[in-house]
Amino acid sequence: MSQQLFERAKYAMSLSYSPYSKFKVGCAVILKSGNIYIGTNIENSSYAATNCAERSAIFNAICADEREFVEMVVISSGEGIIKPCGICLQVMSEFFDENIKIHLYNATGKYHTFTLPDLLPIPFKFKI
Ligand code: THU
Repeated sequence: MSQQLFERAKYAMSLSYSPYSKFKVGCAVILKSGNIYIGTNIENSSYAATNCAERSAIFNAICADEREFVEMVVISSGEGIIKPCGICLQVMSEFFDENIKIHLYNATGKYHTFTLPDLLPIPFKFKI
């Protein structure tokens, strides 16, 4: 994993809009093109309208017409290492193949690496 991807995720965390939870999350994804997209958590006074950092980053890439994800870094401001929420994992399942590495960092630089099947073994798939 490149230092640059980590640094971009850290920068994304600094952009967090989280006046309610005070919990900052940053995410960076790198695509096959080599381009990096970032996302942060954006909260709302109607709590359910909050968008997580992971989805923000994925949606930024999609809006730039890029879908070939290679790797993801997530950093949070807490002591523990957080796992992406179920909604974000479901969004990842739309675009991530099973080998994509997802690096999850806490504020002090401790991290664990997972793949999507580790975190969401059986995603919802639309069957017609
Ligand atoms: N959050 C994320 O951005 N990503 C996650 O994987 C879990 C939670 C955000 C949402 C909310 O702004 C704050 O963290 C507390 O739940």
